[in-house]
Formats: sequence, structure tokens, C-alpha cells
Amino acid sequence: MFASFKSIGAYVPKEKLTNFDLEKMVDTTDEWIKKRTGIENRYIAKEEVTSDLALKASEIAIKRSGLAKDDIDAIICATISPDYLCMPSTACVIADKLGIKNRPAFDISAACTGFIYLVTIAKSFIESNLYKNILIVGAEKLSSIVDWSDRNTCVLFGDGAGAAVISATEDKNEAIIDTHISSDGEYQDFLITPGSGSKNPCSQKVIDENMAFMKMKGNETFKVAVKTLTKDVKDILKKNKISANEVDLFIPHQANYRIIKAVGDSLKFDKDKIVITVHKYGNTSSASIPMAINDMYESGRLKKGDLMLLDAFGGGLTWGSALVKFNGEEIK
Ligand code: UT7
Repeated sequence: MFASFKSIGAYVPKEKLTNFDLEKMVDTTDEWIKKRTGIENRYIAKEEVTSDLALKASEIAIKRSGLAKDDIDAIICATISPDYLCMPSTACVIADKLGIKNRPAFDISAACTGFIYLVTIAKSFIESNLYKNILIVGAEKLSSIVDWSDRNTCVLFGDGAGAAVISATEDKNEAIIDTHISSDGEYQDFLITPGSGSKNPCSQKVIDENMAFMKMKGNETFKVAVKTLTKDVKDILKKNKISANEVDLFIPHQANYRIIKAVGDSLKFDKDKIVITVHKYGNTSSASIPMAINDMYESGRLKKGDLMLLDAFGGGLTWGSALVKFNGEEIK
């Protein structure tokens, strides 16, 4: 049995936050943000929580898969901004909102690499004949864990969700070709929310020192990201004897257009094969890749049978890449 990428869906909250809005909040400029990151806008969820964003993306993905909700065998969510810190998992809340009962539902924690981890887990479950149809969701309300007084981070992130259905197939031509995931905890402090976990439980100190919000060593992270991802994408292509020319779309995690460009250029991709959406949405962590896939699908650039190269890098540190044939039906 093989696993195929059957459908995609995404949801972005309504409220737009521009670089000019941020100029009024912290000591920054539109010019700095655009030049260093490529970001122009991001969207912020107000009343909606992570599972609401996930629900909307999931409903679209399930509808496009042609399956009924009842056909979904498992729900897995990647998020660093769950509805609740410890329990219940956001996946359980999503399942409830979808009206799906008596199915396994759980969250994974792999930060911005979450979607590549999800594809890997879903592929393994299907190839081991455990399940036939798995809903995977990357969903983030990062605005809830951003320190809005820290210009080093608050200009970078946005909210959103992306979902996909991964289904069993007997046709090898439809299969997800390969994935690779990895990590190195030595760099755990590069991207960290130090407070409210077991190390620094919720306390007045955690609140006073903004410890429940994201902290990032941006420049250090940038350097490791470029080096690691450049090697990772080359390795997965080489291992599978696939040339960069055979890839239809390179769809990386959207943290910074300079990282995307450096990795894309190392593979000598034509500019039109490199997918960039960071200017529209900012960094939406685990949601960024499925949101970008959805943009390509809805604009008609991603067609059934196209080969996508995905890559991501994030807190942990974690990273990964995937060679995925898109097996969704043409958009109507
Ligand atoms: O998604 C998970 C993985 N995350 C990433 O991969 C993110 C990787 N890192 C990055 O994308 C970049 O490192 C940043 C966009 C975060 C920062 O860009 P940079 O070119 O590495 O800048 P920097 O951190 O070296 O800072 C350069 C200067 C500093 O000022 P001084 O010390 O040179 O005077 C910062 O204080 O820019 C300053 N700065 C800002 N200035 C205006 C930092 N943030 C801002 C800001 N507006 N928002």
C-alpha cells in the first residue's frame, strides 16, 4: 500500500496587519521588514482560536478529497499555539468540531517543521496498513504567543491553517515518494517559549518577564537554516535519483524569502518554480507549507501529478524535506 496526497485546504483569518501598522506598535519600519524578510502583511485571528482556523481548513480539505467526514480514520494536528497548553489536544477539539467521534486524534510538536513531520507520520501509518484516510492539519494562532513589544519577533509571525487528506492507494505513480525528518536539541534555545512548561511553571515571574512568549536568536537560526536545508534538499533528491529539473514546484516553509532564495538558488531552480507566500502571510509555522500548497492549487499552478519538493526548518531545532506527488482533483 502507498500513501497519496489527496487534497488540500487552507484558511486565513480576516484581519490584516501590515508593516505600517507595526510601525505604530514597535521601533521598526516597513523598509526593514521587507528587506530582511520579504514580509508585507500577516493576518491575525481575533475571536477565533487555533482549532477554529484548523476546522475551516479541514472542512475544505475533506470536501476536496471527495470523502465523507466519517471516512477519516485519524486526525493529527501540528501546532505550537494549541487551544490549551497541555490537554485536551487541539486535534481532539478539531475532531469534535468536525463531528468525528471514536477516532484517534493527537497533536505533534515539531514547530515550523510540523507539516513535514505530519506527512511522514501519515505516510507511515498508511504504508503499515493501519489507516486508509488521515487528516493532517498545521494550524497556528501565533499572535497568542508573540510578545507584541519585541520587534525581533513580532514583525515575523501570522495566524492561519492548512490541512490535507492523505489516503491509501495501490498506484505507485500516485505515491508520496519520500520524506526525511530530523532534529538537533543542542540548539534548543534558538527558538524557545521558556515559560509555562514544567521547567518554568506559570508564575508571576513568567508573566512579568514575558516568558510564555516566543524568543528567537534570529541571526544564528538563519545561518543554520540555510546550511541545513541546502544539504537536506540535495540529499533527498540524490537519494531518490530525482533531478531538480523534474520538480514542478519547490514549496518551502515560509519564514524569510532570503532563506528560500538561498536554498532555491543552490538547486538552480527557475524563479517561477520557487513558491513564495511569506509576503502575504508572514511566518505561520506549521501552517505555512499547506497554506502555500493551497495558494498554488487555488491559482491553478498546482495540477494533479505535479511533483512538489517541500522543506522546513524550525524550533527544536527540527528540519525536514519531502518529495510529494500531488494527487488532488483539478479545482472546479
Ligand atoms: O520559522 C522558524 C525558523 N525561523 C527562521 O528561520 C528565522 C531566521 N531568521 C531570520 O529570518 C532573520 O535572522 C531575522 C529576519 C529574524 C533578522 O534578520 P537579520 O538580518 O538576521 O537581522 P539581525 O537579527 O542580525 O539584526 C540586525 C539589526 C539589529 O540592529 P543592530 O544590532 O545591527 O543595531 C537588530 O536590532 O536589525 C535590528 N532589528 C530591527 N530593526 C528594525 C531587529 N528587528 C528589527 C525590526 N525592525 N523589526
